[in-house]
Amino acid sequence: IIIGIVFVVAAYLIGNLNFAYILVKFLKNEDVRNYGSGNAGTTNVLRVMGKNVAIPVFLLDALKGTLVVLVGRYALNVDEVFLVLGGIAVVAGHNWPVFLQFRGGKGTATSLGVFLVYDWEVAVIAIMIGLIVLAIWKMVSLTSMVGMTMLPIFTLLFGRSVAEIVFAFVLCLFSIYQHRKNIGRIIQGKESKLGQKVKMKN
Ligand code: G3P
Repeated sequence: IIIGIVFVVAAYLIGNLNFAYILVKFLKNEDVRNYGSGNAGTTNVLRVMGKNVAIPVFLLDALKGTLVVLVGRYALNVDEVFLVLGGIAVVAGHNWPVFLQFRGGKGTATSLGVFLVYDWEVAVIAIMIGLIVLAIWKMVSLTSMVGMTMLPIFTLLFGRSVAEIVFAFVLCLFSIYQHRKNIGRIIQGKESKLGQKVKMKN
């Protein structure tokens, strides 16, 4: 139990490493949250700095999720309940980081990193459906939400464990909640499309 609790707290702290914030701060000495959508995530970094920075942000944010599940499952051998709590904690740490005034990202990349090792079949289906949505509507926010909604749907359809179904539901709810402003913009037809750029001061 002690190991489990330490694991969950460590997962939250690892989630705090928000690579959109870190890389933009490091490269431009600017807070990415002052630009574009104000989000500290891949899509907003793509808007303000382009894909050479956005791709590493995506990979690193995903990797921290992957790492948490791998360490929990294979190095620490924590129970499934703690593994799920760790997975939730790393995404919560990304979305609501104590070190960044609780204003982080929306959790898509990190959730994906988590689910790719937790249940790769469900993750791959979510990615494929997400990519179809992206190809049609060109809105990353919509893509993220639809992809994330596939997690609870397919864990249910595939008859996964209760712990996994709850896990998928929580990550999906986090995502929808974090995208609440995007939802408003989508309804109003004002959501930005993939490829739209935003200028930085320097
Ligand atoms: O996962 C984040 C993405 O879905 C939306 O980001 O910057 O358009 O709010 P953004």
